[in-house]
Amino acid sequence: MSFDKLPAIAFLTLCGLAAAQSAGNQTLPAGTMQPKALAACTSCHDEKIIVQQRLTKALWIREIDKMIKWGAILDPSDRDRLIEYFSENFPPDKPAYVASRSAASRHRSSKSTGIKARD
Ligand code: HEC
Repeated sequence: MSFDKLPAIAFLTLCGLAAAQSAGNQTLPAGTMQPKALAACTSCHDEKIIVQQRLTKALWIREIDKMIKWGAILDPSDRDRLIEYFSENFPPDKPAYVASRSAASRHRSSKSTGIKARD
């Protein structure tokens, strides 16, 4: 192996580490509401669309009620507990979600996640 390939190998290794680290924020946090959220919320899309949100409680209420209107099936007694679960785990002051990226697009800024709280 020639030494001129070393920088490329180091770069690819770092990319692999970054991808492994960001994989930790792709799933719903453990707890009693996790299985209920998975059951109620992942029949139409995966949980990634949820964990990337940073919303106030008011916006989580709106979001859950919108999903119920769109067809999410959940026990009415779980509605409030799911709202608590999401607003405690994904509030506006939590550091932004880090999207996993392909190696080719990694040079771009990862500051914006697109969806933001509006109030
Ligand atoms: C009946 C199908 C369905 C179910 C069940 C469902 N959703 Fe959705 N959800 C959608 C659709 C359709 C979209 C918008 C299109 C897309 O991006 O996939 C969406 C988008 C979202 C978004 C992105 C923001 C937005 O409003 O577009 C969030 C957050 C979300 N859903 C959360 C949830 C949560 C939490 C649950 C469980 C309570 C849930 N969803 C259950 C259909 C569903």
